[in-house]
This record gives sequence, C-alpha cells and structure tokens, in this order.
Amino acid sequence: MKASISYGNWIRKKVLLVLGLGVVSLGILFFLLSNPYLQVITGLLFVTLLISLSFPLYAYYAFSPRGGNLQDKVYRLIVESLKQPAPENALDIGTGNGVLALKLAQRYPTAQVIGLDYWGKNWEYSQAICEANARIAQVADRVRFVKGDAAKLDFNDASFAAVVSNLTFHEVKSAPQKREVVREALRVLRPGGRFAFVDYFYDSQYYGPATEFEVFLHRQGLSKIELKRLSDVLPLPRLLRHPKIFGKVGIIYGQK
Ligand SMILES: C[S@@+](CC[C@H](N)C(=O)[O-])C[C@H]1O[C@@H](n2cnc3c(N)ncnc32)[C@H](O)[C@@H]1O
Repeated sequence: MKASISYGNWIRKKVLLVLGLGVVSLGILFFLLSNPYLQVITGLLFVTLLISLSFPLYAYYAFSPRGGNLQDKVYRLIVESLKQPAPENALDIGTGNGVLALKLAQRYPTAQVIGLDYWGKNWEYSQAICEANARIAQVADRVRFVKGDAAKLDFNDASFAAVVSNLTFHEVKSAPQKREVVREALRVLRPGGRFAFVDYFYDSQYYGPATEFEVFLHRQGLSKIELKRLSDVLPLPRLLRHPKIFGKVGIIYGQK
C-alpha cells in the first residue's frame, strides 16, 4: 500500500479521548446510581460533556482529509496568498507535521524550504513525522526540518525570500506579546520577499484590538500588507465560524 502524508489534526486526539472517556463514565454512572437527585446531576453533566465533545469532534472531522479537508484548504490559501513567482528559499514557522513546508516545496520546485518547530510534548507532531512526510512527498532533498523557537529565530535578518506560518504565533509561550512573534518572522524576510501568516489575529487577548494591530502592521516597513478574516476568504461551515474555532482567525499577507 502506498504511504500517505500524515497531516496530524489541529484538534488533539488527547482532548477527544479525555472528553470521550468522561462521557462514557458519566453514562455508566447514571445507570448505576439509585439516588434520583444524583441521577439528575449526573444526567446534566453527561449532556454538558456530550455537547463539549461534539464540537471538537465535528471540527476534527471537518479538518481531516476524510472530512472537509479544511487543513489542506488553509495550507493552499497560504501558499497562493504569497503570490510569489519563484522564491529561492522559504521558511515555515511552527511547521507541525511539516505539511505546509511540503506544499511550498511542491509549489516551488526550485526552492529550498525549512520547516521550524519546537515540537513540544503537548502537540502530536514530530520532526520524524516531518521527515517521513518529506520522503513520501518526494521533496526530502529540498526540505529541511529544524528545532527552534519562533520567538527568537536562529537566522540572520533578511535570510528568506518567503516566510509562512499557520496557527502558531498565539501558541508561542516564550513571547508574552504575540505581535513580537510577527515582528520576528518579518525580520528574517528579505526586502522584496513575500509572507503569509494565519493566526488568531482578531483575538484581542493575543494581538490587542484589530485596529491597533493594523497600525502595528503598517509600521513594520512593508511595501504591501493585507489583513483579512479567514471566513472572508475561505468558505467555512457555520459551526467553525465560532470564535473558539475560526471566528477570530485572520490571514495577513504581503511583501516586505
Ligand atoms: C496548531 S499547531 C499548527 C501546526 C502547523 N503549522 C499546521 O498548520 O499544521 C501549532 C504549532 O506551533 C508549534 N509551536 C508552538 N510554540 C512554538 C515555538 N515557540 N516555536 C516554534 N514552534 C512552536 C507547535 O509545536 C505546533 O506544531
């Protein structure tokens, strides 16, 4: 059987497992209890947990290749938003299982691509999976995966012709101000280079009010910059437009 690329999923299996076990345990408890008051409480908890499970379960399905394939659609959107003729090199920050890095390498057959991540224990991604994915996609000779911190990239200023990142900046614990992670990503982009980043740019807890964030972006010395809500550029199922899933996600792209 032909090996296929392991996408991983933005919804962690661990989360689904914990919620699933909670639902099953409460269901069993409900039938074992004889006290009607305790039965009512257990029943209410069961329904609450079931609703809490159904939401990420639906998102898991919608993201996966067997469901709505939304992860792939977001990767494609990022690559297309670069509007780059042929970058000689590119960086994907917070590469996860490396799929966006592979898409870049496939789209630009002469580019050298680096996928960077810290591959922390709280995620179900790894450098080994990235490297296996690169071999399956037949781009291993041009894609390299390195461990690093998005808050302090180990590259000189202006090292890359293209820089991308997906759903990573808000996760960077080593940077309390997520705008600084954006600034760091732009630091390694060369003048004239293109960038495309997807993240919770409309969530003020990470980036401050959207109007202020736009001012910040316009002060980064970029020649072109667009900030848009993801739901305005990609058709999203209604449930996924919820603020906890993609409602506050935006894309910024442009040129330095
Ligand atoms: C939601 S996942 C997205 C992964 C990948 N970009 C994708 O689209 O599938 C967030 C990623 O950010 C990475 N990450 C979190 N903090 C990081 C840091 N300080 N430096 C580098 N990567 C980090 C995690 O390891 C994880 O792979």
